[in-house]
Amino acid sequence: MRLDKFLSNMNIASRSQVKGILKAGRVRVNSKVEVKGDAKIDPEVDCIEFDGVRVFYELYRYFMLYKPQGCVSATKDRLSDTVLDILKEENTDGLFPVGRLDKDTEGLLIITNDGKLAHELLSPAKHVDKKYYVTLDKAIDDESISKIEGGIDIGDDKPCLPCEIEKIESDKVFITIREGRFHQVKRMFAAVGLTVTYLKRISMGAVTLDENLQPGEYRRLTDEEIKSLTNK
Ligand code: URA
Repeated sequence: MRLDKFLSNMNIASRSQVKGILKAGRVRVNSKVEVKGDAKIDPEVDCIEFDGVRVFYELYRYFMLYKPQGCVSATKDRLSDTVLDILKEENTDGLFPVGRLDKDTEGLLIITNDGKLAHELLSPAKHVDKKYYVTLDKAIDDESISKIEGGIDIGDDKPCLPCEIEKIESDKVFITIREGRFHQVKRMFAAVGLTVTYLKRISMGAVTLDENLQPGEYRRLTDEEIKSLTNK
């Protein structure tokens, strides 16, 4: 990795400031002053110091959480447990959930400190697939499925984008949507007179909820999963 990238990633200085601090001789690599931003370093092996203080390398952190019902997708809440309370064994500094699931919704939630990734996953322009398992109060008919799939009006400025529904049983479906509007899945079914009685997110982009996780459990995303999300 380039030294200048390391320093800006570690928030030592912005990209534009890095040149200046290097030129001023404030950075040492393995005890020697290094002034070149393109010097190659191995952040896990080399000792980088800024103004005599070691800069420890911390990669962005990515977790897959099986959000249980009853906790809120926020970093703080006065009344309820938050999804970050579940990660209390970890260093939670800077971590936040990528998007929200309702308090009574369970399933896949990605937690990270990588703002760029979060933006890419949530940006309406990127149309990242989100797949949910849905249980309904009554059987759904083909006409309602077609209406929802075609892009249903749920009372916002614009109708929803087209989506896919896969029927499992008369009152159970998978739905894959590409937006993240407030209570979107519940409102899409409500628009055809149905109530969602159980909602679980199964996947987001190429990342699928690990079957070995129970509600309230989490694990780190694998390198492959991170790559699939960040396209790196
Ligand atoms: N759609 C909803 O209605 N609720 C969620 O939590 C997620 C998607």
